[in-house]
Amino acid sequence: MYQFDRREYDARMAWYRQARLGMFIHWGLYAIPARGEWVRSTEEMPESEYLRYFQEFSAPDYNPAGWVRAAKQAGMKYVILTAKHHDGFCLFDSRYTRFKSTNTPLGRDVVADFLQAARAEGLRAGLYYSLLDWHHPDYPHWGDANHPMRRHPECGNQGRSFERYLDYLHAQVEELCTNYGKLDLMWFDFSYGNLRGEAWRGAQLAEMVRTLQPGIILNNRLEVSGEGFGSLAAGHPTPCHGDFITPEQIIPPHGLQDALGQDLAWEACVTMNRHWGYCAADRFFKPASMLLRGLVECVSKGGNLLLNVGPDARGNLPPESLDCLNSMGRWMARNGASIYGCGRAGTDKPEYGRLTRNGAHLYVHIFENTLGPLPLPGLKREQIRSIRALATGAEVPISTSWVHSDYPDMVFADLGPDPQLPDPIDTVLEITLNEH
Ligand code: GLC
Repeated sequence: MYQFDRREYDARMAWYRQARLGMFIHWGLYAIPARGEWVRSTEEMPESEYLRYFQEFSAPDYNPAGWVRAAKQAGMKYVILTAKHHDGFCLFDSRYTRFKSTNTPLGRDVVADFLQAARAEGLRAGLYYSLLDWHHPDYPHWGDANHPMRRHPECGNQGRSFERYLDYLHAQVEELCTNYGKLDLMWFDFSYGNLRGEAWRGAQLAEMVRTLQPGIILNNRLEVSGEGFGSLAAGHPTPCHGDFITPEQIIPPHGLQDALGQDLAWEACVTMNRHWGYCAADRFFKPASMLLRGLVECVSKGGNLLLNVGPDARGNLPPESLDCLNSMGRWMARNGASIYGCGRAGTDKPEYGRLTRNGAHLYVHIFENTLGPLPLPGLKREQIRSIRALATGAEVPISTSWVHSDYPDMVFADLGPDPQLPDPIDTVLEITLNEH
C-alpha cells in the first residue's frame, strides 16, 4: 500500500519545480457551441442537443503539434490536455465508451497525437481527467450539484449505480496509464460535496496510477477542487493525496505552506480570458504583460503557472492567445534563467517588482522604474559579486551617487540615465552573490 515518503516525493517533483510554466489545453465538443466548457451544465442542455456536436466534430485545422510548438516557443516546459472533461466526451480511443473523438468525423485519437507531439518537442506531458461525467448514465443526474439534468426529477437516480460509474472511471484511467507510454502528470478534476477521496475509491485509483506510471505526479483534486488544499497540506497525506496544490484563477497571496509551515508545491491554473474551453464572445483577454508578471509572482512565491488555451472548433488556438504566447516567448528566451529552477528569494519583495532566486543567483524583476537609483532590498555590498542585465549580459554598476548617502546600509543599482526601462514589462537584473 502506498505510503508518503519525502525522499521519493522530492525526487518525482524535481522536474516540476524546475519547470515553473506549463500549458493547459481545454478542447472538446464544447468548442462548437463556443460558450465555454460548462455550456451543457450552465444552459441545462439535454444530451440529445449536445450530441449534434458529436456528430459534427471535424476540426479541419486539427494539429496538436502546432499547439505543443506554441507552448514550447512560449517557454513552457509541460503541457496538459483534457483527455475527458465534465461532458464525458473522450479525446482518446477508450474501449469503454462510444462517446470519443475516434467516433467523430475527426476520427483521431487526440491524446495519442498530442502526447507524441509533446515528446517530439521534449516537453513533459500530462492528462486532465474529469471525475465528473455528464454523459455516463450511472453518474448522478437529478439533485447533483452540477449535472445538466440536476433539476429534472424525471432524470431520477434509481437504477443508476455509482459503483458501475467508478468501475468505468477506473478502467479509463487504467487505459490512459497503459496505452500511451510514459505520462508525467495526471490532473484529476474535481471533488465536491460528498464526492471526494474514498468516494472515488481514491486510494485504489491513485495507487493504480502510481504503479502503472512510476514517478508520475498527481494534482490534489481527488481530495479537493480549486478550493481547499488536501491532506498533504494538512500534514497527514492519505494514499490519494496530491503532489501539488491547484489554486484556480488566483495567485495565493503568500504562496502556500503546509501545517508545519513548510513550503508546498503549487500551480496556479489561469485562463487567458475568462473561460477554459473556447468561448467566442469572451473578449476579456489578459494582456501578456499581466500574465508574465503573474508568472514572476508565482515563481517568487514558490509556485508554477499553468496557463490555459482553448482551441476553437476548427482546432486553432485563438489569435489573442497566440499573440500572448509570442510575447511571453520573446521575454522567456532572454529571461528564462530568472524563472526555471527559481523560487523564493527569502527577502521581502521590493516596491518596484519581485525577487526570484536560484542558488547564488538572485533575480531582481523591475516592473516599474524607480525615481533615482534602484534600491536592492536585503543586500549588503560585500554579498554582491556582480550585477548584470539578464537580457543582455551588460554590467549594471552599483550606484556611487551622493543622493543615497543618507542610507549607508543599503545598496543601490545604477540603471543609467534613461528613465524608460529597457523592458517595460519586466527588466531583470541578475545578481551573483558571493557564497559564504
Ligand atoms: C474547474 C472547472 C473546469 C476546468 C478546471 C480547470 O474546476 O470545472 O471547467 O477544467 O477547473 O482548473
